[in-house]
Amino acid sequence: MNEKLPKIIGKQVYIRPLQKDDFENWSNAGESKEFRIMCGASKDSKAPATKKMKDKFKKAIDQKSGLHFAIIKKADEVYVGSCRLHMVNQCDNNARLAIGLLSTYFGKGYGTDAIKCLLKFGFKTMKLHRIELRVLDFNKRGIGAYKKCGFKEDGILRENAYIDGKYYDDIMMSILESEFKE
Ligand SMILES: CC(C)(COP(=O)(O)OP(=O)(O)OC[C@H]1O[C@@H](n2cnc3c(N)ncnc32)[C@H](O)[C@@H]1OP(=O)(O)O)[C@@H](O)C(=O)NCCC(=O)NCCS
Repeated sequence: MNEKLPKIIGKQVYIRPLQKDDFENWSNAGESKEFRIMCGASKDSKAPATKKMKDKFKKAIDQKSGLHFAIIKKADEVYVGSCRLHMVNQCDNNARLAIGLLSTYFGKGYGTDAIKCLLKFGFKTMKLHRIELRVLDFNKRGIGAYKKCGFKEDGILRENAYIDGKYYDDIMMSILESEFKE
């Protein structure tokens, strides 16, 4: 199924199916403390062990945990992160989006550009009606990128995440096919 996923070209990046030789780059994302915290891990967390990462990566490229793409910078073909659509519901035509960049590339617009590519794939190729996501309320850069792509806040999952002895809200956001602008 992976081979059938298309390459979608954005302004600064393109997305293409995640492939076997992306493993090192893909697993390096979790080396960043900020990355882990924004994904809900403890401040004291360590990058996951290689075996765990290998199993997770295998599931990803075998399409067992969603439709996985690598994000590649157009200017120099460098890997900057990965993104995926998962929890695809073919009855209601919806799915959930997730994204993570290598920390060197935070805050340069690549995330926004990649999200738009993934939305294009979801709405134009998969013909989805709605794409949603869940983001921790302190992830201001994530929320900023999602809003720029047209996501709206659906509501708050109050104190849904327990991190380092404290509860944090998760925000549910979504975008409908009719709201998507390339
Ligand atoms: C979330 C992520 C994909 C966003 O991609 P990015 O390339 O870093 O973000 P962008 O540069 O495209 O856009 C971020 C926007 O948020 C804004 N922003 C950043 N910090 C902000 C803050 N504290 N408050 C408000 N807005 C903020 C930026 O200014 C930018 O908007 P602008 O271009 O209008 O200035 C990326 O930072 C990442 O991988 N983070 C770690 C993992 C993660 O959080 N994944 C998502 C989990 S839900």
